[in-house]
Amino acid sequence: MPGVRLHLADAVDPVWHATEEATGVDGAPIPFWAFAWAGGLALSRWLIDHPEEVKRRTVLDFATGSGLVAIVAARLGATVSAVDIDPFAEAAVSLNARANHVRVSYSTRDLLDEPPPAIDVLLAADTWYESPLADRVLPWLRTASAAGIRVLVGDPGRKYLPAPSESGLVEVASYHVKTTTTLEDRDIVEARVFELA
Ligand SMILES: C[S@@+](CC[C@H](N)C(=O)[O-])C[C@H]1O[C@@H](n2cnc3c(N)ncnc32)[C@H](O)[C@@H]1O
Repeated sequence: MPGVRLHLADAVDPVWHATEEATGVDGAPIPFWAFAWAGGLALSRWLIDHPEEVKRRTVLDFATGSGLVAIVAARLGATVSAVDIDPFAEAAVSLNARANHVRVSYSTRDLLDEPPPAIDVLLAADTWYESPLADRVLPWLRTASAAGIRVLVGDPGRKYLPAPSESGLVEVASYHVKTTTTLEDRDIVEARVFELA
């Protein structure tokens, strides 16, 4: 991502094993926070192309992972908070925000159990990769949209991405983003950006 510096991993397994050792938990979640996912790369690209969408706005980056999208929004002049239930992500976001000289506040609270916060823009990148999360995200994003929050989504066509015709997701852009075969089956992936109508 132009101008953005992130501390990222080259391979999943060593970091995954290290988190299992650190927590003593067998079957710990993938270290999502150690990578920039295709959905986040596309949404970041779109925000850079449309800075007016976040400039001087209050923004929440839901499921922030490494903090990529949050950091891009902050660099574009937004007041940004980020949320991710993975406690390891907090350290990743903190290191990455510092590397980019921006401030991003952080919470591990599961916001899907509450009404969306009072913000201007809600960003959600690459959240449709597993069914239990997917089932909860769309209703929550819809509640946010109904409350007048601008909802923007980035996704590379994950298995549980809702069909645009049924979900209200309207495609606004498509990008070929460079990712890694550590995560995907190819290193260039098509990922799309949607607004929730
Ligand atoms: C595929 S990663 C995407 C990370 C980032 N948005 C990006 O595009 O690079 C999905 C993230 O969702 C987070 N997540 C899963 N359930 C969540 C929840 N209920 N609330 C917040 N984050 C959640 C995971 O911990 C993980 O960091």
